[in-house]
Amino acid sequence: MFKPILTRSIAVLLVVLLSGSGQLFANTVTGENGAVASRSALASDVGVEILKQGGNAIDAAVAVGFALAVTYPSAGNIGGGGFMVVRLANGEVLAQDHREKAPLAASTDMFLDANGDVDRELSLFSLQASGVPGSVAGMLDALEKYGTMTRQEVMAPAIRLAEEGFALNADLAGDFNDTMPYFQRHEASQAIFSKNGSPYQAGDLFVQKDLAESLKRVSEQGRDGFYKGPTADMIVAEMQRNGGLISHEDLESYDVVWRTPMRGDYRGHEIWSMPPPSSGGVVLLQILNMLEPHDIGVLGWGSTRTVHLTVEALRRAYADRAEHLGDPDFYPVPVEKLISKDYARERFADMNPAAASDSEQIFAGNWNTESTETTHYSVVDADGNAVSVTTTLNGSYGNRIVVPGAGFLLNNEMDDFSAKPGAPNMYGLLGGEANKIEPGKRMLSSMTPTIVVKDGQTLLVTGSPGGSTIINTVLHVVMNVIDHGMGVEEAVAKPRFYHQWKPDVVRYETDSFSAETKAELEAMGHRGLTDSGYGYGDANSIVIRDGQIEATSDPRSVGGASAY
Ligand code: DON
Repeated sequence: MFKPILTRSIAVLLVVLLSGSGQLFANTVTGENGAVASRSALASDVGVEILKQGGNAIDAAVAVGFALAVTYPSAGNIGGGGFMVVRLANGEVLAQDHREKAPLAASTDMFLDANGDVDRELSLFSLQASGVPGSVAGMLDALEKYGTMTRQEVMAPAIRLAEEGFALNADLAGDFNDTMPYFQRHEASQAIFSKNGSPYQAGDLFVQKDLAESLKRVSEQGRDGFYKGPTADMIVAEMQRNGGLISHEDLESYDVVWRTPMRGDYRGHEIWSMPPPSSGGVVLLQILNMLEPHDIGVLGWGSTRTVHLTVEALRRAYADRAEHLGDPDFYPVPVEKLISKDYARERFADMNPAAASDSEQIFAGNWNTESTETTHYSVVDADGNAVSVTTTLNGSYGNRIVVPGAGFLLNNEMDDFSAKPGAPNMYGLLGGEANKIEPGKRMLSSMTPTIVVKDGQTLLVTGSPGGSTIINTVLHVVMNVIDHGMGVEEAVAKPRFYHQWKPDVVRYETDSFSAETKAELEAMGHRGLTDSGYGYGDANSIVIRDGQIEATSDPRSVGGASAY
């Protein structure tokens, strides 16, 4: 039944063997003091080292964030942005927004060509595709407010990995080579991701001297070491040479925002997640609210009823996302309405238990009132602090442009805006007024860093990459833990199905349900049921039960979990 997982596990095993780490099937680990799950085993080890040195989960999360910028450059970053949800040992929950912002020179129609069509080359692979990076400001601010260690201490491992290099595994070397046609367009990108133009091989030492220097400037000078001085000068010089928009003013004025976290309740559990400008928390809570009146646990994992109800909830929540979600600093997002149980009841009232709805007949809810590559990591420490971070350059390796001299990639997050009402972005997501481009605005995100609390204790720390599929991946992990009582490894490994309103198709990972269930779903009118293999998301997660901290890296990719 789990052939794809097995195949992947063998791939992981081979990579582990090839990389010489000596640990077999090291995807799930258990500890009593602390743990990190991330897309990079090296970065997870950095986090646990920081914990062992006496750092708390925030210190470790910041160290992992900077390490991922070195060891997982397609998504780990200092040229991108992300979100962090923190639950402190005292029970306080915080949500930090270090999402990129549109440069001040950005304009609503900047990605439209002479015919009024969206120019995807421009929105994805140009310097104009980059929002003002937020990761450095976010990491440093979290460290200052809630960490216990110095910048120099938490950044030392990342600087060492960049300066001394590390042995590439087959996964990373292969990924660099797959992206080479893009890197070849930019001298600085090709210089980093190839050996003087020849492909890297597994086992080669990957050294990033310019990146090490950029990290050292941050380590020594803090925020000013990135948003002012030589790094800022190099970013702005590249922008000015090649038609980008980011200015010194944009960099200096970049602000981190601590927002009120999204809080919902699902079957006696507190669900804490990211508020707008991420759609993640709102949409996740909407779906859980629609499902709560139905006993998913009894209906069973992968049953026709469970899949049907989940697809119908996804359909409605994603329709609302397209209409109502955007940067709350620019648009009045009706958050309270969208996440209320009453609204969920109304919204799900037209759900037919026996037949699929037609997305063409499902419109965003209206009432009289008054948005492939990202990476998620989870950290917990011995005191009970928990940190859930999703960070991104948007596309894999962002716009694939390395800032000459500075050694890091720039994001292409501007594509997350709705460049034109009704035109799908690279994830097929629709949007309009709420998520149009405006100077200084944050683009709508789907990133859903989430923490689930039961009886006052952190139960689950999770999140995922995957563009529009992120919310769905988090939903499946949450449901697998709460409704189906699974442990973290099973909850994350289980195949997932997916629907995003439009296109009106149900995509599913192999073995998400039986052939009989598939036939029943088709008979109910569900359209376009498509087996997509095994690869929705990368939910590096932690579950804490009975004092045991269990961390897993998603078997869909080559990551690593570390615990002690
Ligand atoms: O913020 C967002 O929703 C997207 N920029 C995330 C991109 C992503 O997950 C790509 N990963 N596979």
